[in-house]
Amino acid sequence: MENTTVRTERLELRPVRDEDVDRILEYRNLPQVTRWLLRTQVDPASLRAAWRRAAADPDDHSMAATLDGVVIGTVSLDVVDGMGQPGMPPRTEAQLGYIFDPAYGGHGYATEAVTAMVAHAFDRLGVRRITAGCFADNLASVRILEKVGMRREQHGVGDSWHAELGWVDGYTYALLAETWHRESAP
Ligand SMILES: CC(C)(COP(=O)(O)OP(=O)(O)OC[C@H]1O[C@@H](n2cnc3c(N)ncnc32)[C@H](O)[C@@H]1OP(=O)(O)O)[C@@H](O)C(=O)NCCC(=O)NCCS
Repeated sequence: MENTTVRTERLELRPVRDEDVDRILEYRNLPQVTRWLLRTQVDPASLRAAWRRAAADPDDHSMAATLDGVVIGTVSLDVVDGMGQPGMPPRTEAQLGYIFDPAYGGHGYATEAVTAMVAHAFDRLGVRRITAGCFADNLASVRILEKVGMRREQHGVGDSWHAELGWVDGYTYALLAETWHRESAP
């Protein structure tokens, strides 16, 4: 992706660099972080390789959220095709995700960063629709998505495999650019 920077009131979002991976690993595998992630424990080499691939992928707009120069979380945004019917414009959808260091939790930083990423996707990248999935019991994630203005479009009953709990419910949230511009933009 290009070398974009997004500033918010308290944070700066910028591409993840190789040297950030050690810092990300300080929180990425903590039990309270992996609890509601689909990819639970990650080993350092695969995490480094995944962020290198992301940096080289023009459709991957994921960024590190930094507070006073310290990486406190990452917000991922992958621009993808829709279902691919003939004539459908490509690269109109984006999938959103986020992982933050619990040491910085409870200050609204994740909400601030995710809100900025959503605005960036609609205003700068020209995305038409953003989706995000989470386990139904991931209350902090649900709260973020609802504060950002995303709509719960699917409650998948027993559709999501959880490493410790087995089959549990999942939610899919979505937001259209037109709704964002109408309701959320300042
Ligand atoms: C989800 C996550 C990013 C939230 O980070 P955070 O720093 O707590 O986020 P914020 O401070 O911006 O806000 C979280 C909101 O959820 C609420 N919240 C946090 N933990 C909660 C919990 N256990 N139960 C209910 N609400 C909770 C907060 O009160 C806040 O809402 P409020 O502003 O209305 O008070 C962080 O917990 C995380 O990275 N978790 C592990 C990875 C993960 O689950 N990622 C999402 C996968 S879908």
